[in-house]
Amino acid sequence: MAIPRFATVEEAISTLKPIEPIYALQPAKFKAAAVRFLDSFPGTPMYAVKANPAPLVLDQVWDAGIRHFDTASLGEVRMIKTRFPDAVCHFMAPVRLTGHAKAAFEDFGVTDFVVDSDYELDKLLGEIPDHSKIRVFVRLAAALGGALLELSSKFGTNPEEGARLLKRVVAAGAKPAITFHVGSQCLSSFSYAQAVEIVRRAIDRSGVKITALDIGGGFPAPYLNNDVPPYLWYFDTIREAIDTLEIPGLPLYCEPGRALVAEGVSVITQVVSRKNDRLYLNDGTYGSFDELTLPGFDADYPNRVFTRDAMGRVMPLAGKTKPYRVYGPTCDTLDVLPRPQMLPESITPGDFIVFDAMGAYTVAVRTTFNGFWNDTWIELDG
Ligand SMILES: Cc1ncc(COP(=O)(O)O)c(C=O)c1O
Repeated sequence: MAIPRFATVEEAISTLKPIEPIYALQPAKFKAAAVRFLDSFPGTPMYAVKANPAPLVLDQVWDAGIRHFDTASLGEVRMIKTRFPDAVCHFMAPVRLTGHAKAAFEDFGVTDFVVDSDYELDKLLGEIPDHSKIRVFVRLAAALGGALLELSSKFGTNPEEGARLLKRVVAAGAKPAITFHVGSQCLSSFSYAQAVEIVRRAIDRSGVKITALDIGGGFPAPYLNNDVPPYLWYFDTIREAIDTLEIPGLPLYCEPGRALVAEGVSVITQVVSRKNDRLYLNDGTYGSFDELTLPGFDADYPNRVFTRDAMGRVMPLAGKTKPYRVYGPTCDTLDVLPRPQMLPESITPGDFIVFDAMGAYTVAVRTTFNGFWNDTWIELDG
């Protein structure tokens, strides 16, 4: 689908004079993010669709060269295979609705599944009787601490239980594999090495030769207040850690969501009203800003402010900044960004705040609460 394309954000604002929030796609940033993984990750990256399933974003990810997808529900499998029939989907959720593994296998050719309990393994083996066709990843819990959002208290088991499950997978005639997730927005490359050590324990205890390792997602986006290490540190650490497993040729996967889409989307918002140091925007926590409210999430999106001069020309609003409380447009008191935002002292209603790196867990989780919903997308060259 062709969408309006502009050379710069100034040109977009000046042409559209947007009253409602706008999602601005930057193809060059999607490309750069994908190339980072395709060129330097020592295995196959799958895009974790949940981070942003908007069709225009999926197209960007596909055009950037990603062909494997972490689809964690039948709905995501269907969405991806309908849009990209040649895509390879991996059903990487450890708990699936009844019958959904069977449908993914029979209708869409999915052969990779995850389990972290006997119950889910039994269910999977029951739904797909030809076990030799499937690869079963046992999900291990990773050590907590390196990431803003942990993903190991709900899913994942310990090396002892993991070893037992691996042996059951082999006994059933399926291909054994292991996965983990170090948590999202992981700021410590060492977390991956720690998790690989847990993998080693499960392998040693089971005596099973695994056929693949999937190190999950977690790679960070460049948010404010977060010190994001260079990506090569992650890839080097992962490579070194995996070498110590001494399984030559072990197929390796990762499941980046945030890292593939965050930087490719900016949201152009408008200041609707101001009361001293309180600003009211046309977007808020029931819209694109939900993730900022998650417990432990202490990052903010980088922002740039634009204003219009007397001639209507759009230009950056510079000058001294100060902290503002920033509210969303709904009637709910909770619709407020959790931390004050540093913005120019002279900001006024009608000005625009462009929030960058907003491609992940924004569009995916927004609501229609209170009648606020806009789905305008544009493309930016710059
Ligand atoms: C199983 C799984 N894989 C991948 C991801 C993507 O993680 P991230 O966006 O941190 O890369 C998630 C996020 O919830 C997940 O649960």
